[in-house]
Amino acid sequence: MSGEFAEIPITRVQDYWNRRPCNIRHSTAEIGTKEYFDQVEARKYLVEPHIPAFAEFERWKGKKVLEIGCGIGTDTINFARAGAEVTAVDLSVESLKLAQQRAEIFGLSDRIKFYEVDAEKLSEYIPSQKYDLVYSFGVIHHSPHPEKIIEQIRQHFVHSGSELKIMVYYRYAWKVLWIMLTNGRGQFWKLDRWIAEHSEAQTGCPVTYSYTKKTVVDLIGEGFEIKEKYVEHIFPYRIKDYVKYQYVKEWYWRIFPNSIFRTLEKKLGWHLCVTAKAK
Ligand SMILES: C[S@@+](CC[C@H](N)C(=O)[O-])C[C@H]1O[C@@H](n2cnc3c(N)ncnc32)[C@H](O)[C@@H]1O
Repeated sequence: MSGEFAEIPITRVQDYWNRRPCNIRHSTAEIGTKEYFDQVEARKYLVEPHIPAFAEFERWKGKKVLEIGCGIGTDTINFARAGAEVTAVDLSVESLKLAQQRAEIFGLSDRIKFYEVDAEKLSEYIPSQKYDLVYSFGVIHHSPHPEKIIEQIRQHFVHSGSELKIMVYYRYAWKVLWIMLTNGRGQFWKLDRWIAEHSEAQTGCPVTYSYTKKTVVDLIGEGFEIKEKYVEHIFPYRIKDYVKYQYVKEWYWRIFPNSIFRTLEKKLGWHLCVTAKAK
């Protein structure tokens, strides 16, 4: 299986995430301080409150966790805090520097090993080892060949009973419609390009695939039994306030009662969260 972005060199993906590591502007405090990391975490889980329930940090106490695409390490730290032994990899050295600094500040360095790695070639860089959980939140869809990452996991890093938890972007999401209405000028034949252009806080992401509930099962492929898959997350805030760290919802989201907003999130959310068990 190859896709729209298969010809994009991995160095372009790497450069993009090095220029602006994911969530790096989630705080106004001095970058790299404890206050900075606390604010990053508070904002991340305020805006994406479904993450702790999906990751189930506490469940992995005393277990081995492999995190693919750790970014600046918000979830990484929470796995380690909960008592997991974590291996965290990312393509972006700038993200890894902050994640490492974060682990030191919180006294968790002895529980986390970091590697600068292209996950499509994971086994060439990190020792083959079986993990209880392989976790990857918002990462695999940014790699030119997502299926190679899954193949690496399947062949080298899981045993029978290991869990795989991945979040990939959902193709039938409100956000896709919003991108097409606000930026895409209705050019649905260029849908993938437009999604990539506007999928992240910084425009111009070189690779962003999106999946349906069926195509994500095809991506995960044989060797895994799907335990759960659901969609979550509509970003409801006005960007002009959000960049100033104020959380004012768009007028149309203010009209809806919270119960309706939650129903819509479950139907049209941007995050397709999948848990599977290795056979
Ligand atoms: C949207 S960020 C998510 C980071 C983190 N999981 C989080 O939720 O904050 C995507 C991350 O995936 C990493 N990434 C993309 N392709 C990768 C690959 N082939 N191998 C390793 N990391 C990759 C990027 O460097 C970036 O840090």
